[in-house]
Amino acid sequence: MQTTGTIDDTRSAVRHARMNGAVVGFVPTMGFLHEGHLSLIAVAREAGATFVVVSIFVNPTQFGPNEDFLRYPRNEERDRELLEKAGVDLLFLPPVEVMYPDGANTTVHVGGVSGPLEGERRPGHFDGVATVVAKLFHIVLPDLAAFGRKDAQQCAVIEQMVRDLDLPVRLVFGETTREPDSLAMSSRNSYLSEAERAKAPVLHRALCAGEEAIARGIHEVAGVETLMHRVVAEEGGVEIDYLVVIDPKTFEAPEDFERDLLLAGAVRVGRTRLIDNIRVPRR
Ligand code: PAJ
Repeated sequence: MQTTGTIDDTRSAVRHARMNGAVVGFVPTMGFLHEGHLSLIAVAREAGATFVVVSIFVNPTQFGPNEDFLRYPRNEERDRELLEKAGVDLLFLPPVEVMYPDGANTTVHVGGVSGPLEGERRPGHFDGVATVVAKLFHIVLPDLAAFGRKDAQQCAVIEQMVRDLDLPVRLVFGETTREPDSLAMSSRNSYLSEAERAKAPVLHRALCAGEEAIARGIHEVAGVETLMHRVVAEEGGVEIDYLVVIDPKTFEAPEDFERDLLLAGAVRVGRTRLIDNIRVPRR
């Protein structure tokens, strides 16, 4: 596996692969890799990638002032081993000055889908995500890029950006990889104490209860949301940030249930914020 840290070296490695006929797949990450990240490498390959690029960059601009940028978990050596084992061709590991040199002063703002939920609670977060992903796309110039549905709103924001800016990249999405007890894998799970870790699966349990309620014929937002809230309240010690039924096209409440729906939640277990979601296709 080749590793690059500059834009020129990255472009030249990708150019070389493409000259040899490669289809370039890209998986952007913030590192501290787990099976969820690795599953996206497989998704990129299944979509046709023959040369896989992974980036690891803990992007400062997507963290709020009171968020966990400084304590975000890092383990470069382990990440490198995992990527090597996964057969990744190129690891792009830029230092912050390469991504944000002095004087950088342009931000990509995606309207609409970036507004509600995460956008409302984490002001500026999706501007940071859209900006860094646009930059990474322009550095790597991939044919296709893979993102995880665990971050459903991030997927929607990037889809909107690619469409609006005519970026020449095909997006592919991977299902959420879970621990045996259904907790969605996340680098942030490493923050959880043993007691907190035992409570964390309640988020997915609540979403599943919502899904079952819809299947049973409760086709009304407040009814489904009350039920999901009750599951979390019964666990105790878990604070709900949001736990909602939304239309995945807008990330706002659905006009009716005669459409695809998304059940999405964010909770705090101690100091750790966890998110998860379940798609409920139109019945
Ligand atoms: P990060 O949280 O490291 O996630 C990198 C990619 O892995 C994202 O596409 C995310 O949705 C996906 N992912 C995370 N957990 C997953 C799981 N349990 N199952 C499947 N996929 C999962 O998301 C980011 O980094 C950043 O915002 C980034 C896009 C790299 C921009 O900085």
